[in-house]
Amino acid sequence: MTQEIPSLAKVYGDFFAMGAAVNRRTIDTHSELLKTHFNSVTAENEMKFESLHRTRGDYDFSSADAIVDFAVANGMKVRGHTLVWHNQTPKWVFEDADGHLVPGPEVERIQKEHMETVMGRYKDVVYAWDVVNEAISDSDDEFLRNSPWLRALGEGFIGDAFLRAHAIAPDAKLFYNDYNETQPTKRDKIYRLVKQLRSEGVPVHGIGMQGHWGLGGPSVSEIREAVELYSSLGVELQVTELDISVFEFEDRRTDLKSPTTEMMERLAQRYEEIFALFREYKSSITGVTFWGIADDSTWKDGFPVRGRKDWPLLFDVNHEPKAAFHRVVNF
Ligand code: GLA
Repeated sequence: MTQEIPSLAKVYGDFFAMGAAVNRRTIDTHSELLKTHFNSVTAENEMKFESLHRTRGDYDFSSADAIVDFAVANGMKVRGHTLVWHNQTPKWVFEDADGHLVPGPEVERIQKEHMETVMGRYKDVVYAWDVVNEAISDSDDEFLRNSPWLRALGEGFIGDAFLRAHAIAPDAKLFYNDYNETQPTKRDKIYRLVKQLRSEGVPVHGIGMQGHWGLGGPSVSEIREAVELYSSLGVELQVTELDISVFEFEDRRTDLKSPTTEMMERLAQRYEEIFALFREYKSSITGVTFWGIADDSTWKDGFPVRGRKDWPLLFDVNHEPKAAFHRVVNF
């Protein structure tokens, strides 16, 4: 006897877009789940600088195009991820073959060319871009992360990147995206950054809360405080990379072959309370994207504990809905 499984995206049709991070393989292996439950996609890696633009001027769009084609064929939205980030950006952007630093104006030219080429190509499809990813420092005594972009271009690099993005794709929604976004010190820095940029007239339209969370935290009240604070800036919010690890921070076990019943129940409770909060803030939250589709393919396998399997999503390793799924759709 098969029970009718409601579509996640349809259930949330009056709330926000329901997205998933995909890659070239999962648009095939997970296409049924994607078509049934999601109406938005983000490329997990395929639109990052190092994936598209490995050597200067030499672009490879094949994987990103395949994802965009899949989305278009199925009437899905596409979030662009990401343009300016300290990770997954090739070394040649900042250093020449002899190990000398590339001068600032040249780094700026490279960034501009890159953004023009990439944003230009996907102008008709990508409705929102994570323009700058993870520029805020995690240490309490530092504001911006000491990244190669900051070293090459100085503190104005964030505002400049948004202005540039807006000039290239004036219709795109432009996001600042970061993790640990509910942690009070970092949250306040993200708030300060976006507030400052907007007061200078820089077009930052949204804050991306990555949402790589766990069973133990952040608490619903911490998430609420972050959502309240960010939305007070008058920007859109999107949860851009949601997954909830089934391991407590102290739990370093690597021997589990399948999740325990307790883990699945706690995960279901977490998803239930978190989505209740998201629904409450539907006027600010315009999209929720999971960082993956089903537990058979998740970046949490092996991270942060090497050799450990995790089960952080709504669909299990066999693509069946978990208890967490049912809690998210039954309200
Ligand atoms: C960050 C990035 C994502 C992804 C995850 C880990 O959150 O924004 O693109 O790389 O890390 O998979």
